[in-house]
Amino acid sequence: MEKTLVLIKPDGVERKLVGEIIKRFENKGLKIIGLKMINISIPLAKKLYEMHKNKPFFKYLIKFTTAGPNIALVLGSREAVNVVRKIIGATTPEESRPGSIRGDYAIHERFNLVHSADSKGNAEREIRLLFKPEELCKYSQILHPWLYGGKGIDR
Ligand code: CMP
Repeated sequence: MEKTLVLIKPDGVERKLVGEIIKRFENKGLKIIGLKMINISIPLAKKLYEMHKNKPFFKYLIKFTTAGPNIALVLGSREAVNVVRKIIGATTPEESRPGSIRGDYAIHERFNLVHSADSKGNAEREIRLLFKPEELCKYSQILHPWLYGGKGIDR
């Protein structure tokens, strides 16, 4: 099962959208494998967003990420990286579609509520940065056949 890393950013926590955001991932069928509330330090934020270090907005991104607690999630599903990015929506508010998290709740690209890894490689890197291996839970979802088929349901 593919894994991805999601952060509900400080604006999502302050705006009391944590439950609403997690509900959307659960409703789609994503499995919660890891979940915690964390204060991200400046050095960790810099590592997390190192691919943006030369962008003009890097300084603001680090300030914003460290401005309050984040919720970190590891989610799993078939094609989890792409599925989660669709649920989150485009970065800029004029491009994020209604129905996506950013499309429904964000109006500014800096205050865009959620981050998710943009590739499988970055997902693995970001999960390693934020979670210890023992913080990731292994369990089987009883609903699995109703999400993916199998066990005589579809054949
Ligand atoms: P995220 O998915 O967390 O990945 C990088 C982040 O950079 C992005 O979401 C935005 O929050 C942020 N970002 C992108 N463009 C800008 C910008 N012009 N000004 C400030 N932050 C930005």
